[in-house]
Amino acid sequence: MKSSLSRRGFAKVLSAGAAYAALNPSFAMSAPALRLVSSSPTLVRLNSNENPYGPSPMAVKAMTDAFSLAWRYPDEHEGMLVDALAKLNGVSSDQILLGSGSSEILKVAAAALTGPGKKLLVGHPTFEAILAYAAVAGAEIVKTNLTSDYAHDLPKMLAEKNAGLIYICNPNNPTASITPKAELRAFLAKVPPQTIVLVDEAYHHYVDSNDYESVIPLIAQYPNLMVARTFSKIYSMAGLRCGYCVARPELIQRLRAQQAWDSVNIMALVAAIASLQDAGQVEQGHRRNTEVKNFVYSELDKSGYKYIPSHANFMMIDLRREVRPVIDAMSGRNVQVGRVFPAMPNFMRVTVGTRPQMEAFVSAFHAVMS
Ligand SMILES: Cc1ncc(COP(=O)(O)O)c(C=O)c1O
Repeated sequence: MKSSLSRRGFAKVLSAGAAYAALNPSFAMSAPALRLVSSSPTLVRLNSNENPYGPSPMAVKAMTDAFSLAWRYPDEHEGMLVDALAKLNGVSSDQILLGSGSSEILKVAAAALTGPGKKLLVGHPTFEAILAYAAVAGAEIVKTNLTSDYAHDLPKMLAEKNAGLIYICNPNNPTASITPKAELRAFLAKVPPQTIVLVDEAYHHYVDSNDYESVIPLIAQYPNLMVARTFSKIYSMAGLRCGYCVARPELIQRLRAQQAWDSVNIMALVAAIASLQDAGQVEQGHRRNTEVKNFVYSELDKSGYKYIPSHANFMMIDLRREVRPVIDAMSGRNVQVGRVFPAMPNFMRVTVGTRPQMEAFVSAFHAVMS
């Protein structure tokens, strides 16, 4: 099983750390700083859309090998990852900007592209980080409710004037829903050239739908389009912080101007490079997620609970009652689920964990809801 491999891999990292400490006493003296925040073995974490299977064993090995490079600035490795991502996405290297997680991409986009007189337009509800970043930039934020299918209401968003940036989260967090590709194409053809469209494809690898496509290939056609991706989800590197965006070189330069130099650390870089070389990581992550999601669907179907069909590694379940007390009761049973989303007060967002985690979830859910 990949999870046990990952644990073994992690143990190897720790023992490599111990070996390094034996050779380097000053490292050993700082060992208490290494104490890890390990969650209780009985705690089931389904609140942050993390990928519980862990990084590729190749990424773990690359990080182990890179310990001794920690004294170096990361720029050489940055170039290697940029080149690999350019190749993967069929663009040139000056069309890639790395970030310390895709969160940093969202932050620099808000800083560069919104501000007084340059609104941020978002769906509602959606992933909220960029709202906070645009608020700091002094931008007005306009929220447009999702449609009844939980897609972005693109015609309504298009009607709004003076947008600096339009944020489309596809698949969307917290609803795990998609905005259909035909609608997105029609929308991109109509957005004024001075407005930038940021499509956040953090959950891209989990989608199973003919109605969805990545818009990265459309960047060749639209200079005002950028796409954010992350290594936190299918690559299971949330704690390492690595993301990137694809855009035209002129836009990349505007974004880069807002960024700290060398913002992606060397461990994240080598792990990301290695992950891209692990052919099985995406396929296996997708398959496991789908299998476990189907198990949860069938349990919910049996007990008559509806849910929004999920195109991600999490799902929204309609509780038909207020979610707040249910979140607390689940927590009392050692199962952490997503927070309250005020726009959807009767829905519970649950990350799709491993099969044993979801069995624990189902049993706690039945107990709490009965
Ligand atoms: C839609 C979406 N975008 C971006 C992020 C940020 O991810 P990271 O900064 O770890 O790349 C998340 C995190 O959950 C997310 O759900």
